[in-house]
Amino acid sequence: MPGNFLELYNMIKLDLPHPDDDAIKHSAKLSALIRNRIEANAGWIDFSEFMLLALYEPDLGYYSAGLQKFGESGDFITAPELSPLFAQTLANPIATTLSVMNSAFVVEFGAGSGVLAANLLLQLEALGALPEKYLIIELSAELQQRQSQTIMQMASHLHERVLWLQKLPEQPISAVVIANEVLDAMPATRFVKRNGKFFPLGVMFEDNGFVLRAGEQDAQLQQRLANIEQETDVSWCDGYTSEINLNIAPWLQSVAAMLHEGSVYLIDYGYPRTEFYLPERAMGTLMCYYRHRSFDDPLRYPGLQDITAFVDFTAVAEAAVEAGLDVEGFTSQANFLLDCGLPDLLQQKLGDNERSNLIWIQQMKSLTLPSEMGERFKVMLLTKNIHLALPGFGLQDMRYRL
Ligand SMILES: C[S@@+](CC[C@H](N)C(=O)[O-])C[C@H]1O[C@@H](n2cnc3c(N)ncnc32)[C@H](O)[C@@H]1O
Repeated sequence: MPGNFLELYNMIKLDLPHPDDDAIKHSAKLSALIRNRIEANAGWIDFSEFMLLALYEPDLGYYSAGLQKFGESGDFITAPELSPLFAQTLANPIATTLSVMNSAFVVEFGAGSGVLAANLLLQLEALGALPEKYLIIELSAELQQRQSQTIMQMASHLHERVLWLQKLPEQPISAVVIANEVLDAMPATRFVKRNGKFFPLGVMFEDNGFVLRAGEQDAQLQQRLANIEQETDVSWCDGYTSEINLNIAPWLQSVAAMLHEGSVYLIDYGYPRTEFYLPERAMGTLMCYYRHRSFDDPLRYPGLQDITAFVDFTAVAEAAVEAGLDVEGFTSQANFLLDCGLPDLLQQKLGDNERSNLIWIQQMKSLTLPSEMGERFKVMLLTKNIHLALPGFGLQDMRYRL
């Protein structure tokens, strides 16, 4: 049951399904741990630390515990879960890239249920372009197990090609790297503007619950945000709240260091910087998901709900260049898939069975329509030491907007 009247009111207002007793007990354990962490840190932790604990604390965090998460019975549905057409289309540029490199790998970060890995491997096999090994870097031990089961069920003969790594290979490798909906799940720093200054937002424990509170000013954060405000040529209102992700740049540095040559596909919901920090987006982009409902209270039931923030793709491109990668293309998911051969693939699927045809067509619509995943999701291609004409950005390349 919700803990107090306000919580009950919010539940009714948002029409959120109630977690069951076990889920509530689970969340209470994680809340106790977060509370201890707050007390050990003089009563306040940065929001990014709260998000890290809520999502990734071993055995308790949202991605680390055994919750359903993906698919219809979970909290959200991602493109590879929605349709095999996604993986099968993505396989086309990946196969081309693998074919020009010796002993090349595919490296997937945050492989979710493992369905993208299974479908990609099957399609790469059909194209005669299997990688040397398919490496998965996954923070959650529970998800690693689930991925292994999925690959065993869907592509058992290819299971031995898959390796789960605890850390990135130390010797540089030739590889195609994929991260679908991973950047949005990296802990984000939140901030608020007050009287012309920027303050980090963090979490405290007050009156029997978690609350968001501004922390002390941080000179580096102040400088970075003042630069962004100046660069985007806007003046954010007093109280303007948003996010900046300080984890993406070091992650890209490590990805670039891992690559001798290859490419990186980053697929996620996000905007170029000028759109990310629109003056009217005054509450930021942070979203929470629970049983296919989205809402904006990340402090409720830690561990039971997904917490995500949109991606500032200008920041990603800047960090990529800093890390020695080339930004080869940036477009919407719809234009990327259409240019990579989705229409031909769909054509091959259609046959005499009307019902099956309708399902395929519906899947293509969900992946590409602007009102569904087509526009909100973007694809950015980064490369290192390879120069190839790759499909994906022929219909529209939006690098000029970064
Ligand atoms: C929203 S899920 C997406 C899962 C899957 N890629 C899909 O599209 O269905 C986010 C995934 O990113 C993983 N993740 C987040 N940060 C990561 C990191 N730094 N390295 C590897 N995986 C990460 C999470 O554990 C989780 O599996």
